[in-house]
Amino acid sequence: MNKQEGQITWESPSNIAIIKYWGKHGIQLPENPSLSMTLSKCKTVTSLAYKPEAVPSDKVSYDFFFHGEKKDSFRAKIDSFFEKVIADFPFLKTLDFEIRSENSFPHSSGIASSASSMSALALCLCSLDEMLGRKSEDKDLNSFSDEFLSRASNYARLGSGSASRSVYPGFVTWGKHHELEGSTNLQAQPLPFEVHEFFSDYRDAVLIIDPARKSVSSRAGHKLMQGHPYALNRYKQASGNLSELLRALKTGDAESFVRITEQEALTLHALMMMSDPYFLLLKEHTLTAIDEIRNFRQEQNIPVAFTLDAGPNVHLLYPGSFAEPVEAFITERLKPLCAEEKIIFDHIGQGPEIKACP
Ligand code: DP6
Repeated sequence: MNKQEGQITWESPSNIAIIKYWGKHGIQLPENPSLSMTLSKCKTVTSLAYKPEAVPSDKVSYDFFFHGEKKDSFRAKIDSFFEKVIADFPFLKTLDFEIRSENSFPHSSGIASSASSMSALALCLCSLDEMLGRKSEDKDLNSFSDEFLSRASNYARLGSGSASRSVYPGFVTWGKHHELEGSTNLQAQPLPFEVHEFFSDYRDAVLIIDPARKSVSSRAGHKLMQGHPYALNRYKQASGNLSELLRALKTGDAESFVRITEQEALTLHALMMMSDPYFLLLKEHTLTAIDEIRNFRQEQNIPVAFTLDAGPNVHLLYPGSFAEPVEAFITERLKPLCAEEKIIFDHIGQGPEIKACP
């Protein structure tokens, strides 16, 4: 029996890109392959409650609540996502939905939530699709095939490019690359090898330098790459960096990991500074933190690396084996640089989890 009424809940994490996705074309296709680390604590929980539609229509009928409050300001992004996927999920036209979403991280933390929220929503749709198409009650809806995850990643991409990577645990790539068999711009995939144990317990301390909303939307940001004078070289550089990073992750080469991670972060900002119009998002404390991190690395010989999103906050990446000295350094030197001394301590995560399913 297919139930036409119920609720599905997924919890999906954010991710931090090491090789940056910056520039897209067509329908959410990346100009270069990217690689990220899936986080654990920074996540979104999304519930999709559904019942038969009162008045049938060609549009998706839904209400959206963020932390319990009806939020119409989020509708534009969700509408645009539904428009892209409605042809593949016919039930979107026949059911009424109530979407409830909550982030584990504060809205004002400057952490982009599109990766976690769009992957959570895409996973809810894929689960509902499986459930409504289910032939018998026997199927275990808590076990997810490779095909299910790669489908969910494809739909997550249509919501937000970086969301495609959040569907998988650990280090994840998205985009076509000659060294990754089966890689495609349509969806992300886990690494085809086990990472060296040095990288198996990686940490990310998010230094909230400025909690203000991102000053460049990713939509505007990606657009800046169209006609950017350095675009083609950038795409080539990303591909080369990915080759080198894959080798580093496999062999435990911390030095290359640090070098590539930081080069990618600064390239992202250099590209924004050289675009027309330009965006200069680095704050004084961002630069001071970068200096402190470099000095600490040189003095202590500990392979900490910084990376940046399209904003002023600094992500400090470090191996769990060095957690003690690195966290003492964070408290002493970096905490005072953060807004209200705010830092989110996160680490490499296991990927999304289904929380409720009828
Ligand atoms: C700098 O995934 O937010 O974080 O596809 O337009 O939703 P849309 O963009 P989005 O871009 C992320 C850009 C980045 C780098 C990255 O995550 O790879």
